[in-house]
Amino acid sequence: MSTVIYTAADGTVTEIDGRPGDSIMETAVRNGVPGIVGECGGSLSCATCHVFVAPETLELVGGPGGLEDEMLDGTAVERAQNSRLSCQIRLQEGCEYHVTTPSEQL
Ligand code: FES
Repeated sequence: MSTVIYTAADGTVTEIDGRPGDSIMETAVRNGVPGIVGECGGSLSCATCHVFVAPETLELVGGPGGLEDEMLDGTAVERAQNSRLSCQIRLQEGCEYHVTTPSEQL
């Protein structure tokens, strides 16, 4: 099992047990976590799964790849240095992930 801790823009914290291999976006959508839309279903073509990744999680998952980096230029809330598209972050067994969702995705 993996754990994802989502903090909303208003400070609300939601902790979800996720399945290894699933993405942070899929885990949010399946469990009704607000703040992540995932309009394209994870095919890297919408940028509505934007999250800000906590420093310890960024160490674990690293930065965006080339196409993801381009897509991050089209987010509703301006990207930051710790921005990732959460459909591109796959959960690993036994890991804990901390992300903050932006105030809007569309
Ligand atoms: S769900 Fe569309 S880019 Fe992540």
